[in-house]
Amino acid sequence: MLKVSDIEVSYGDYQVVWGVSLQVDAGEVVSLLGPNGSGKSTIFNTISGLLKPKAGRVEFEGARIDRQPSHQIVRRGLAHILERRRVFPYLTVRQNLWLGGYHPEARAHRVETLKQVYELFPRLRERESQLAYSLSGGEQQMLALGRGLMSRPKLLMVDEPFLGLSPAVVQEMKDAFKRINAEGVSILFIEQNVQVALSMSHRGYILESGRLVLEGESEALLTSAEVKRVFLGG
Ligand SMILES: Nc1ncnc2c1ncn2[C@@H]1O[C@H](COP(=O)(O)OP(=O)(O)O)[C@@H](O)[C@H]1O
Ligand SMILES: [Mg+2]
Repeated sequence: MLKVSDIEVSYGDYQVVWGVSLQVDAGEVVSLLGPNGSGKSTIFNTISGLLKPKAGRVEFEGARIDRQPSHQIVRRGLAHILERRRVFPYLTVRQNLWLGGYHPEARAHRVETLKQVYELFPRLRERESQLAYSLSGGEQQMLALGRGLMSRPKLLMVDEPFLGLSPAVVQEMKDAFKRINAEGVSILFIEQNVQVALSMSHRGYILESGRLVLEGESEALLTSAEVKRVFLGG
């Protein structure tokens, strides 16, 4: 479904991603792991068209997308929920969600998709007239996820969905992921906590200083000595 081949990404002269290749198959949940500053968000921004790689390619469902603008990529069915859940603070919950279904294919289904999002997160329905800034962190994360779902993605990319959330809300988000995936949506997400990431993905990729150092089935990675070295300095 998604195939990233040998991408190199720089900010000016400062290269932060070196020859990274990864893929996500239909129906999969895949995690991208790595310490702070290792290039995870840069990779996501490159996949969703916010950044252009200086080498390598990104394909989605067989079509090359690394030269396409973000609004066309989202139209193909690839949604990217940015780090720190950038919701529109002075719009209501409902307005935020409505904007997520802006592109033509999603627009025709907005009423129906909104209903599905409200079923997934009943709290958003309860707060639909509230301004987004007044929501709790967990509710804002639900809103960011819901807004992404409004674009009716085939692949949902989520950058650090659990950051700063209470254990109860983390559990709610995990359940939501399961339900979204059970509906047939593939998920690629970023997470710094190894246990959390691997316990809820089929496969994982581990990044260190802009290079992939390990990849594999989550179960195998959980017991890997290399994983312990990267994350626990052991
Ligand atoms: N807009 C930017 N301009 C210059 N350097 C950046 C920019 N964004 C990120 N970086 C640098 O790129 C590296 C990778 O950042 P990032 O992809 O955000 O890492 P992660 O998401 O893994 O924490 C870091 O060294 C960071 O300081
Ligand atoms: Mg990041």
